[in-house]
Amino acid sequence: MTSEEVIAEFKNWKPKDCLEAEICCGIRLVPFAVGRGAYRDIYTIKGLPDLIVKFPKHSKAHSVGEIKAIRKILNSKTKYTELKKLMPTLLYSDLRTGVIIMPKYKKLVTKYDSLISDLVESIVNLEWDEKVITTDVHYENLGLDAKGRPVIIDLGYFTNEGHDF
Ligand SMILES: Nc1ncnc2c1ncn2[C@@H]1O[C@H](COP(=O)(O)OP(=O)(O)OP(=O)(O)O)[C@@H](O)[C@H]1O
Ligand SMILES: [Mg+2]
Repeated sequence: MTSEEVIAEFKNWKPKDCLEAEICCGIRLVPFAVGRGAYRDIYTIKGLPDLIVKFPKHSKAHSVGEIKAIRKILNSKTKYTELKKLMPTLLYSDLRTGVIIMPKYKKLVTKYDSLISDLVESIVNLEWDEKVITTDVHYENLGLDAKGRPVIIDLGYFTNEGHDF
């Protein structure tokens, strides 16, 4: 299956977890970044290594917060000019299940990772207008796109909905 076909299967079946996705969408999921996500289980799809699928673990609030934040930033006509440039591509997102598909971004492993994280955090602090305890922008929640530009890959803490403390 192509990426487009897999995404069409997700839109059709709206699976809530790994098992439903495998059975309904006819795909095999491969665990990625095992044990890294506190809120989501992260998978790649067998045969499609460029996609990342995130399934909520105990609560979908973190994912729902992430989806709402990305949509709010990208849909704004007047605000978030710089934040828009740091958004991941939401290939699939479902507020009901909290399941997300986005491209797989390269790991931010350069000697400049803390410099890049600090710059991204400054942009977030300048433009993001929701009052939260932390947006949790650090190198593990950032990636690099094909052109080497930084991307925020976890916006779960951008809204209060995504905070469970
Ligand atoms: N689009 C992506 N491309 C590459 N790696 C990713 C992507 N999304 C997530 N990951 C990897 O999976 C890890 C966990 O993902 P994510 O941060 O979205 O989950 P989480 O449950 O919200 O984690 P936490 O709240 O612990 O930061 C990331 O730190 C990163 O290593
Ligand atoms: Mg994270």
